[in-house]
Amino acid sequence: MERSKIEKTKILAPDVAVSAVLQPSQELPAETPIVTGYDWEHGTDYNKILESYIHSGFQATSFGKAVEEINKMLKTRAVALTEETCDPYEEDVFIKKKTNCTIFLGFTSNMISSGLRDTIRFLVKNKLVDCIVTTAGGVEEDFIKCLAPTYVGDFNLSGKSLRLRGINRIGNLLVPNDNYCKFEEWVTPLLDEMLLEQTRDGMVWSPSRIIARLGERINDESSVCYWAWRNNIPIFSPALTDGSLGDMMYFHSYKRPGLIIDILGDLRRLNTMAVKANNTGMVILGGGVVKHHICNANLMRNGADFSVYVNTASEFDGSDAGARPDEAISWGKIRANATPVKLYADATLVFPLLVAQTFAKYHFSNKKNV
Ligand SMILES: NC(=O)c1ccc[n+]([C@@H]2O[C@H](COP(=O)([O-])OP(=O)(O)OC[C@H]3O[C@@H](n4cnc5c(N)ncnc54)[C@H](O)[C@@H]3O)[C@@H](O)[C@H]2O)c1
Repeated sequence: MERSKIEKTKILAPDVAVSAVLQPSQELPAETPIVTGYDWEHGTDYNKILESYIHSGFQATSFGKAVEEINKMLKTRAVALTEETCDPYEEDVFIKKKTNCTIFLGFTSNMISSGLRDTIRFLVKNKLVDCIVTTAGGVEEDFIKCLAPTYVGDFNLSGKSLRLRGINRIGNLLVPNDNYCKFEEWVTPLLDEMLLEQTRDGMVWSPSRIIARLGERINDESSVCYWAWRNNIPIFSPALTDGSLGDMMYFHSYKRPGLIIDILGDLRRLNTMAVKANNTGMVILGGGVVKHHICNANLMRNGADFSVYVNTASEFDGSDAGARPDEAISWGKIRANATPVKLYADATLVFPLLVAQTFAKYHFSNKKNV
């Protein structure tokens, strides 16, 4: 509008409206980023697209901040352990401190059902994380996928007709019931073996020890648990019986009763890792047990130094799943001066991209420099 017209509007319009609408601004701090998106003149450069996210706003900005937070973990992790900061007396190779920043990775069961299993395996195979927490499905589905495939289906398939065909649905994924029969054939003799070692040698089985044994026995390089066993990365799963593995243990308890699982032993192992760590980072995909178990372990050291949550839950219902990092600061589970990030997104969509911009770049650039 030309100047004289604006003046006229001001003269004619009620003062209250003019002063409300045209209220002058205070200057923002000079370093405040300006919103910009990707410049398509660069062509289809995926790296530059992802780098542009931080100044794009909304969850794209949270993605950019999550990249920065994970890169801080990796930078701290790259500092070599010294005589003072290493852990010479720890005899448990799974919990012995391996790096200057102990990274705890948590993920819900469905992540292993999905293709994220392959991204998680990359992290574990290349020793880019130090400790895993997952739920029962996150363990058994890893083994089941070594025995038979999971298929891509559709969210809208009818439950009734799938049941008649012996097909189980996880979101838009399909798992034939035969896969669980194969799992039963594979795991039952291993449960026999564990019971024998318990009664004969006094072996105390905890979920993480059971998972390590199964990881060893699956002997399959496509498995997350196999690489975790090979690289001495513990997998904790306090509710290990809440899935198919629990069904198999239930049946086994009729055939050969007596197997005992010690969850407190695992709590000591997990908390000890947090207490001993020089620095800690939490990367938690999804909520529920996996999120709280890692955060609670970090309470034992007065909070994690670096944190990234990726989940779809909101806090309005008071759920731990939806709680933002600030709630964890109030409990001492994240340090008060930390810069945690919550990314609201489906992990299957964003976690491979997060890994691409952080762990994978770090890993491949280190490999090149060797
Ligand atoms: N494949 C399976 O999902 C499977 C298989 C066997 C047993 N179970 C059992 O079901 C129980 C509940 O599973 P759970 O505790 O692993 O988690 P869950 O599936 O109940 O999810 C917990 C929360 O995590 C968040 N979340 C889940 N998927 C997400 C995604 N793709 N992206 C972002 N956020 C996401 C959501 O906020 C969700 O409310 C467990 O005891 C588990 O062992 C699950």
